[in-house]
Amino acid sequence: QEFDIAVLGATGAVGEAIVEVLEERNFPVRNLYLLASERSAGNTLRFKGKSVRVTDVEEFDWSQVQLALFSAGAETSDRWAPIAADHGVVVIDNTSRFRYEYDVPLVVPEVNPHALADYRNRNIIANPNCSTIQMLVALKPIHEAYGIERINVATYQSVSGSGKKGVDELAGQTAKLLNGLPAENKAYDKQIAFNCLPHIDEFMDNGYTKEEMKMVWETQKILGDDNIRVNPTCVRVPVFYGHAEAVHVETCQPVHVEEAISLLENAEGIEVFHGNDYPTQVGDATGKDHVMVARIREDISHPCGLNMWVVADNVRKGAATNSVQIAEKLIEEYL
Ligand code: A2P
Repeated sequence: QEFDIAVLGATGAVGEAIVEVLEERNFPVRNLYLLASERSAGNTLRFKGKSVRVTDVEEFDWSQVQLALFSAGAETSDRWAPIAADHGVVVIDNTSRFRYEYDVPLVVPEVNPHALADYRNRNIIANPNCSTIQMLVALKPIHEAYGIERINVATYQSVSGSGKKGVDELAGQTAKLLNGLPAENKAYDKQIAFNCLPHIDEFMDNGYTKEEMKMVWETQKILGDDNIRVNPTCVRVPVFYGHAEAVHVETCQPVHVEEAISLLENAEGIEVFHGNDYPTQVGDATGKDHVMVARIREDISHPCGLNMWVVADNVRKGAATNSVQIAEKLIEEYL
């Protein structure tokens, strides 16, 4: 069985990766429709050796497709997801727009595939935030075996998480500053080249950023447990692709490190780095579809603490790949 598919935001950092991942994983695509705003209508992208033209979403007839992958910002999803869903299209949405609605499933296929069953409520499935996805893939085996009470996490997130404007700003500022020219801040409030910013998404009334609160809300929703406490600090770093995280978990039962390592080795979607070996964003994670875990060690300050270093490609497993994996599960089990 083949499916007609629309990708909304096809010219963006994540949209382009979705098109690549659909091709690489040989997703059963009959017709592919690439949608964006009028700004890039008429441009073309390659899919399976052919060029496909980008259409202005305003002019698209949703009855032509059965599945749509959205990655064009929360406002665009707010406008178009209900319209697509009313046409019977199942929407897999990469933005934060529907993630916290109780009747919209929020899915990481390795972690809570069962939640997909509720897709019929709204015909919308939400893809979680990139930082949450990689953290939960790594923590799922630990949670199952020992129970997780609390998570302390600090993230080191690349600029591609802000879309193409983030990538352009880091490249542009780096080139200018190395040439002794002044660099403007547009995508970020402060200079991102050669710098780290503890500020991702807007600040909330409680002093946390929205990116940090996404990790709290989404962890509880995906693991189905509002008692799990999450204490995040999210930092933007001058890296183009890939997010890293220093994760410290406090479990209900004491953890044996060797056992934890073997649980992680046997879990879906994880590669374990042993001993003093560790993955980095550049070189190891970029272009990969799985989550890398390293530096797995006991917390010397806590009897039920475990530390790890978790790295993944935020555009791939953090967004495009996770969405396509949701689509794969959906067609396998439900369509
Ligand atoms: P466009 O190329 O027409 O601007 P990124 O996250 O890399 O910045 O990409 C955002 C994606 O979302 C792009 O494909 C962009 O298309 C698309 N997009 C942004 N705003 C809209 C909109 N109002 N309608 C349709 N697509 C949009």
